[in-house]
Amino acid sequence: MSNTVNNRQPIAAGNWKMNLDISGGRELATGLNNALAGKSLNCQVIVCPANLSLGAVSATLNSPAGKSPVKLGGQNLYPAESGAFTGENSAAGLKELGASYVILGHSERRTIFSEKDDFINQKNQFALDQGLTPIFCIGETLEEREAGKVEAVLEKQVTAGMKEISAPNAVKMVLAYEPVWAIGTGKTATPGDAQAAHLFIRQLLGKLYDESTAAQIRILYGGSVKPDNITELISQPDIDGGLVGGASLKLDSFMGIIEGIDESAA
Ligand code: PGA
Repeated sequence: MSNTVNNRQPIAAGNWKMNLDISGGRELATGLNNALAGKSLNCQVIVCPANLSLGAVSATLNSPAGKSPVKLGGQNLYPAESGAFTGENSAAGLKELGASYVILGHSERRTIFSEKDDFINQKNQFALDQGLTPIFCIGETLEEREAGKVEAVLEKQVTAGMKEISAPNAVKMVLAYEPVWAIGTGKTATPGDAQAAHLFIRQLLGKLYDESTAAQIRILYGGSVKPDNITELISQPDIDGGLVGGASLKLDSFMGIIEGIDESAA
């Protein structure tokens, strides 16, 4: 199964986390619009600004209206339509601001905010019900890797996070394998280690669903993706793009990654 012969459109997604203020978000969105103008892209570009910047980034990308190839994503949502959930963000609000994707289960949400698999599963289901595409993150800590538990951790996270999600909904999802020890550390998984994890996840999806479903689901790699490592990562058969943190905050480095991913699908 190779990403040059399969039908999975690769993705270059930027996770801006709680970085860039609203004007910084506008500036980067303007830069992306200009850099991508007139290019015919083979990959899908997504930016996930902090929720507070989403409206401004959306307006910037869509000026002039409808011209930007860049899609928007939120970084989280609460799995209820509305209600007494102080500080949380609704799917309806995200959609109104122009988002079509939402990052769920990011390791920072799991560790800093103690989000558990079943809560992330509720979020995945809710996002799908509301017509948002989850970018569902999974990945092991260094301790778990050193203890030889990578596959056990991934199996638990994927199985629990996708519980009761039907095959037709599963194919709409995007998964992101992000080894926690590689996030923001400058340490990237070797392309071989990343491919082994992606293949394991795809085979697991084949068991949870069926081979055709598994073959359609995009699995992104995240963790210190940079312009100089993306080409080798994206050339792995089961890596369908990148979820990029730090290197998505600067136009030059994000464009380098977008180009690397785009060329893989040319
Ligand atoms: P990083 O973050 O690229 O800065 O390692 C990736 C992520 O957390 O999605």
